[in-house]
Amino acid sequence: MTPDAPFDASLVPPGLLGADLEAIATEFGTPVFVYDEDEIRRRAREYLKCFGRGNVAYASKAFLCSALVRIVDDEGLHLDCATGGELHVALHAKFPASRIVMHGNNKSDDEIERAIDAGVGRLAVDSFDELARIDRIGRRHDSVVDVLLRITPGVEAHTHEYIETGTEASKFGFTLTEDVALQAVGYVEQSPVMRLAGFHCHIGSQIYRLDAYARAIDRLALLAEQANRAHGTTIGELNVGGGLGARYLADDPELSVTDLGKRLHAAVAESWRARDLGPAPELKVEPGRSIIAPSAVTLYRVGTVKEVPGIGTYVAVDGGMSDNPRPVLYGAGYEAYLPARISEPRPRRGTVVGKHCEQGDVLVADAALPATVEVGDLLATPATGAYGYSMASNYNEVPRPAVVFVRDRAARLVVRRETPDDLVRLDME
Ligand code: LLP
Repeated sequence: MTPDAPFDASLVPPGLLGADLEAIATEFGTPVFVYDEDEIRRRAREYLKCFGRGNVAYASKAFLCSALVRIVDDEGLHLDCATGGELHVALHAKFPASRIVMHGNNKSDDEIERAIDAGVGRLAVDSFDELARIDRIGRRHDSVVDVLLRITPGVEAHTHEYIETGTEASKFGFTLTEDVALQAVGYVEQSPVMRLAGFHCHIGSQIYRLDAYARAIDRLALLAEQANRAHGTTIGELNVGGGLGARYLADDPELSVTDLGKRLHAAVAESWRARDLGPAPELKVEPGRSIIAPSAVTLYRVGTVKEVPGIGTYVAVDGGMSDNPRPVLYGAGYEAYLPARISEPRPRRGTVVGKHCEQGDVLVADAALPATVEVGDLLATPATGAYGYSMASNYNEVPRPAVVFVRDRAARLVVRRETPDDLVRLDME
């Protein structure tokens, strides 16, 4: 791409390209997260088409609010909750507990109890301490819990080390080393309150190289073989988590869910056939980012344009690392565009920064912008629907933004903006 080429509008979901973003910013204020509801639904359906009903759980950590829970429910997906808080939001929005997979590497007694009481479909178990807790709580409740054992397959997913979760060094799951995972299978098989539904792994997030999944699946097949030999276990389902990379920059690839589906199904079939393990288990996935990241843009108002001689231009907006900590956490790259001048050439280079008291408070490093960018412009960052609002903070006592859903060009507020009063809501005096 030539340096001053216009912004690549294919990074913006169709429903937002046609929407009056300036009107949305005026009505709801900035910063504001704006989601294209049809795009969320389209991406959810694509996963369902490739993996089948009952086999796709949306990973709520990527972004969760009651309105989204209803869409996920409406589309017939399952839901992955990783904490009591995520479970609370899901149940508050009346999501059927039987379609919830409860995760977490350090679930408290209370979280386990609430999950069992609610009747969640699956508990993904992460450690021996947790197995003991479930066993104890399950006996008290006189219930039988369907569990998935989360396995660390020991593969590298080639992504940022903070979001790579399938290596031997991971804090998540049971390692295959020294038969640790096999012992966990033995524990479940002898417990009267647990039923082994299958294995789970999540090798990482923002994955572009899909070959790691097949390697992980093969390690799980090896465990299935060992479990069968040792305990007569049959693995009914294999949940390989989420992780498909999203397109953030114009030069990033758009990965195909269909391709992912084909590869994963082929890998399971092949690994099960090679080990003569009988019928392949049901394959399940838990996408978060690839459904929700490309479905939103964040709108900001430009407040300051500062030229620093010999250094460059800072374009400061009214949000920052409190609504999108990903650049500062992972060095994540984003694009920026001015919705009012989306097809203008972008000869100007600038660093889009926020309003926080840190030099690292960068939203877009080296953004390409129209020469005319000025105070008062509306500036948008596309592909900000995942791990932005869900990781937002009140740093510097900045109220968290509003969230708006757009459908058929109509915008509705689904999460209101925090007010200054919200900032002292928890103070006791
Ligand atoms: N399943 C499990 C068990 C997970 O831990 C995760 C993400 C997912 C599914 C969904 O993965 P996805 O499809 O969204 O990649 N804050 C980081 C991402 C952390 C991902 C944590 N686990 C970021 O902003 O890049």
